[in-house]
Amino acid sequence: MRPHIEFIQAQLLPWRRIREGAARPDVEYKFLSRDPETGACSAILRYPPGWRREGDNRIVADEEFYVLEGELIVDDEHYTHDTYGYFPARHAYGAMSAPQGAVVLTFFDKEPEIYSGDEAPAKSHIRIDALHMPWDMTLNDPKLAHLGISRKDLRKDPETGERTFLSMILPHSEPPGLEGPQESHPVVEEAYMISGSLTGPQGTMAPGSYFWRPPGIPHGPFGTRWGCVSLIRFVGGKHVNVWSKGNAPFSFSAPYDPILPPEFQSFAYAPWTPPPRY
Ligand SMILES: [Fe+2]
Repeated sequence: MRPHIEFIQAQLLPWRRIREGAARPDVEYKFLSRDPETGACSAILRYPPGWRREGDNRIVADEEFYVLEGELIVDDEHYTHDTYGYFPARHAYGAMSAPQGAVVLTFFDKEPEIYSGDEAPAKSHIRIDALHMPWDMTLNDPKLAHLGISRKDLRKDPETGERTFLSMILPHSEPPGLEGPQESHPVVEEAYMISGSLTGPQGTMAPGSYFWRPPGIPHGPFGTRWGCVSLIRFVGGKHVNVWSKGNAPFSFSAPYDPILPPEFQSFAYAPWTPPPRY
């Protein structure tokens, strides 16, 4: 079980370096969240320019990733910025490199230990050039109509119903009357803000903000002044929206009021703010 984290600015978390003998040695990383029992984790990996690894690179975990900056080259496949990848456990490739470096949002479904057996992967790998994919503007929940949500679906697991997608919210979106119902889901919702900002009861998430919200926790309503794009995952099963009967208030000036486990308390500063624009 991972604790409720809502929300932290990833810029404030420390970089560490992956040890020799583990997957991706010498790559820097910062944990966004981690399950201490299974080792499943969400992290930002920073591959230094010129990093290269050849040979048997198989690991025991499913790996999902989204390239934020730079480029990863895996055999002859290029994962440039805004490319999504999914490598099932035991996925084999001959070489991985980052000639110019890369910053990659990465999710492992268990401790990413080296695999040395002879079992084949259970699924195919996925590569999606999200940059050149159209936004799906089809609205899916009328209670979210005020946000003008658009999507780019990246992965849906046919067995578990788990989903990964990019979510875009239009600028100047706020709940009508500055109040609205709260939603909750029977599964984990996890998100990393790639650009823009989103305001909710815990304050305003800026680029680099991250939350891990366990099942059944009411959240929202949300609004955004200038729109936002975030990568969202529903983990542990199929996502549905469950709505509260009553309304909760909304304000663009909601102060930063995070829910954080003890190990993140010291990073509960005021959110990172972008440099002045004027
Ligand atoms: Fe939600």
